[in-house]
Amino acid sequence: MNALELHGVTRRYGATQVLRGVDLHVAHGERHALIGPNGAGKSTLFDLISGRARPDDGRIAANGIDITGKPPQRVSRTLARSFQTTSVFGGLSVLDNLRCAALGAASSRLIDRWRPSRKVDARAHAMLDAIGLAERAGELAARLTYAEQRALDLGIALATDAPLILLDEPTAGMNRAEATRALALIRATTEGRTLLVIEHDMDAVFSLADRISVLVRGRVIATGTPAAIRANRDVREAYLGGVAT
Ligand SMILES: Nc1ncnc2c1ncn2[C@@H]1O[C@H](COP(=O)(O)OP(=O)(O)OP(=O)(O)O)[C@@H](O)[C@H]1O
Ligand SMILES: [Mg+2]
Repeated sequence: MNALELHGVTRRYGATQVLRGVDLHVAHGERHALIGPNGAGKSTLFDLISGRARPDDGRIAANGIDITGKPPQRVSRTLARSFQTTSVFGGLSVLDNLRCAALGAASSRLIDRWRPSRKVDARAHAMLDAIGLAERAGELAARLTYAEQRALDLGIALATDAPLILLDEPTAGMNRAEATRALALIRATTEGRTLLVIEHDMDAVFSLADRISVLVRGRVIATGTPAAIRANRDVREAYLGGVAT
């Protein structure tokens, strides 16, 4: 059984057929990257998996359980998702943003834990250190720099204990040092979990991913190891052609 399986997933917006029958299998414990040109439908696919939008056709299963069309609150224990555009709570402090995420993770087990708040706090503080924002803990999230907000956004997704993590361009807008730190954090915090990550930075993709799927014009045209994808002629023509590899 795979952590995530998509069969024949389609989605249209107006006159645009955005996804044209996507098949995608992500194994348990795998770090899987989804790459493809702008407008290929990558974020739309995340919308469908996380329940923000419904597929017109096709099936989506997580851990063998059908989640097709299930709303976000029904799948939030199974998967956590970060957005391409930052989505932190601007009116809450940095630490409280992380507490909310950690609380979501803990709430299913509040009843059988004696000190849930201590656990939540410990989890939030650990993530605060991990994303390098300890000195900004009390600051309103809205007052962070863009890169800091991206780091917080990542922390929110990773502070849950969802077994499946979806990250949409986690290093976009970061400088090299910030991106390197974010990648190390992603690697460490997804250990033992399953990761599906959309990423344009090919260095990041090739260093992070066990396997890569390539989405072009609403279809997965190839799936394979980084070496296989790098060598794939269709992929090179469709996507990697202009990118130094
Ligand atoms: N809610 C929506 N309403 C209308 N059109 C949409 C919606 N969401 C996505 N689309 C369209 O679907 C297509 C694919 O967009 P999507 O954001 O999924 O691409 P992407 O692969 O994530 O691109 P990028 O790499 O630029 O982020 C685009 O043409 C976009 O305009
Ligand atoms: Mg996108």
